[in-house]
Amino acid sequence: MPLSFAEPARPVSLRRRPETLATMPTDAVETIETDHDQPAFAALVDSLPDPVMVVSARDAEDASDRRLVFANLAARELLRIQAAGGPLVSAIRHPEVLEAVDESLFGGLNGEAAYETGGAQDRFWRVRTRPLAPAADGARLALMVIRDETDARRNERMRADFLANASHELRTPLASLTGFIETLRGHARDDAAARERFLGVMAAQAGRMARLIDDLMSLSRIELNEHIAPEGKVDVALVTLDVIDALAPLAAERGVKLEIRMAERGRAMITGDRDQILQVAQNLIDNALKFSAPGGTVEIDVVDDVTAEAALAPTRAGAARLSLLSPDLVGGERFVVLRCTDHGAGIAREHLPRLSERFYRVEGQKSGERLGTGLGLAIVKHIINRHRGGLAIESVAGQGTTFTAYLPRL
Ligand SMILES: Nc1ncnc2c1ncn2[C@@H]1O[C@H](COP(=O)(O)OP(=O)(O)OP(=O)(O)O)[C@@H](O)[C@H]1O
Ligand SMILES: [Mg+2]
Repeated sequence: MPLSFAEPARPVSLRRRPETLATMPTDAVETIETDHDQPAFAALVDSLPDPVMVVSARDAEDASDRRLVFANLAARELLRIQAAGGPLVSAIRHPEVLEAVDESLFGGLNGEAAYETGGAQDRFWRVRTRPLAPAADGARLALMVIRDETDARRNERMRADFLANASHELRTPLASLTGFIETLRGHARDDAAARERFLGVMAAQAGRMARLIDDLMSLSRIELNEHIAPEGKVDVALVTLDVIDALAPLAAERGVKLEIRMAERGRAMITGDRDQILQVAQNLIDNALKFSAPGGTVEIDVVDDVTAEAALAPTRAGAARLSLLSPDLVGGERFVVLRCTDHGAGIAREHLPRLSERFYRVEGQKSGERLGTGLGLAIVKHIINRHRGGLAIESVAGQGTTFTAYLPRL
């Protein structure tokens, strides 16, 4: 009979069956008696995603007397509980948790505690305890529920890290500006040459702050819209050519040659947001120029109509490769590829997974005069994600890097 929460035949109540709970075996699912129109209580609790347990105790002074008289499936799996009735401390020993359990058992209070576990991945758990009516034999009972709060905690940390990083990035140029203002007010007041030089540095620092704020705003705008599919029609080849035109002076200044291979006009078409695709091309080409040695070459390819497999085929022998973002595929999708290859510094394998994190920069890399904000690739990744595309990187330290962005073809 189907389970109905609107009109339960009889309410499921912990109080109704304390004797069942106190004696419930771990394989209770099979053995519990079932009323005809009510699902088995243990089966119901077993299907809860959070670990749920009932602890019994008689002696407040004897900590080893706390026993796990019931544990649902999630609890048995998480704490590797073999049999009912075992001591609580053999499943969980965190003193704060034991204290919270005692508060409910002997103080009649709701308790709460948190603990962390290590292993392959740190996890963060919150435990809540509630007093229950005593068992038929007089034993005290408490309910204990554990919730995995790792994700919430990670998001919280990311937000805090993000704020700390953003403030730090802004504080550095600001401190430099403040320093120069002091100098200009002080001993450089009457030195026209020094004044000119300092004002130049100040303008550069102010420019850096403005860039950083622009990038931060851009990132938050992109994140806000990330779940809204873009609507316009974009010719990736045309947009890329516009970016190349805009960056040509920078390439000339750095002595870097651009080799361009474009799909025919009107062929590399995608559904997208033109300004955002422009930002993708701009960031990838800007990076390639920035990390190229003078006299180097940067190759820019726009290829229309390829499969995901072809988009991801290796292009550099012996390179470390990583997919920073991959779209969900159902099969048969065709993509437009935007690929940017440089022969510059390259990136060591261990840095690849972190490249699209905000503010992440590989330390000690030569990037010409301009220090970046480390937001470019984070922006690229969010934009491509919004367009349901993918991003992959291949790099050989000392030999260069290839970024491949691929976007679903119109
Ligand atoms: N083509 C490349 N060659 C070598 N390293 C690169 C290349 N592209 C990116 N990187 C590394 O990845 C880091 C992050 O790149 P990203 O574009 O996010 O930031 P940025 O270029 O430092 O700053 P911004 O793009 O905000 O000006 C760079 O600092 C650099 O260490
Ligand atoms: Mg960049």
